[in-house]
Amino acid sequence: MNQRSIMNMVLLGAPGAGKGTQAALLVKAYGLLHISTGDMLREAVREGGETGKELAIYMNKGELVPDSIVTRVVIERMAKPDAEDGVILDGYPRTKPQAGSLDDSLEGAGKTLDVVLYFDVSEKVAIERLSGRRVCRNCGKNYHLTNMPPKKESICDVCSGELYQRADDKPETVKNRLVVYEESTKDLIAYYRDKGLLREVDGGLPAGDLFEIIDALLKEEGLL
Ligand code: AP5
Repeated sequence: MNQRSIMNMVLLGAPGAGKGTQAALLVKAYGLLHISTGDMLREAVREGGETGKELAIYMNKGELVPDSIVTRVVIERMAKPDAEDGVILDGYPRTKPQAGSLDDSLEGAGKTLDVVLYFDVSEKVAIERLSGRRVCRNCGKNYHLTNMPPKKESICDVCSGELYQRADDKPETVKNRLVVYEESTKDLIAYYRDKGLLREVDGGLPAGDLFEIIDALLKEEGLL
């Protein structure tokens, strides 16, 4: 692994754009801290209780969880010591109020947002990826039935855990997630472009090729 660098980065893009996949590659190569709001919220759902049940109602329909809940979760996580040297935010912010809260929180902590990577993919590619995604129940590693299949059917290559389909990857929910993205999140592209932070990459490329592009881009920016 290369030396860990200090940067705060946001990964922005439609559901299925490949944000989580590239975050995992960046973590492996550079030891960066990955904060995925989707993963944190799914963990809260697994833990159950009233909060978990409430979150599942939004998530299983492909709706966004209220800003106040997600922002609290992210800000608390970013206040932990291991986030001091920077984070990869995957799936946050997703609305203008969330982006404002992130700006305020970073400013309050004397930190900056260094770059926003926008993964551009067609709706066709996003749907095809989400419908074929399978996730390890044990370690959370992502697979795809045709693009990145496991060596043994339904078994995780890394930990032999069982692979499952996320509840929100069913076709009806995928459609709604893409609508919600268009309505609530797409505005953030212009928001971050205006701040000079947006860097656009072709999310439709094979994962390894895209990683090389991102790696080169971050090095060019002096962030790695
Ligand atoms: P979240 O878990 O964040 O889902 P998402 O943003 O919809 O993103 P995905 O995880 O579906 O896609 P991805 O871009 O990470 O793609 P991946 O790399 O996995 O959020 C889930 C829910 O939580 C939301 O709907 C909402 O309810 C709630 N939530 C979360 N954050 C919130 C917030 N801030 N505010 C409010 N609510 C929030 O790849 C997908 C598939 O494609 C995989 O199978 C992978 O193997 C494959 N693949 C990836 N890259 C490639 C490639 N380059 N080539 C070929 N295949 C590829």
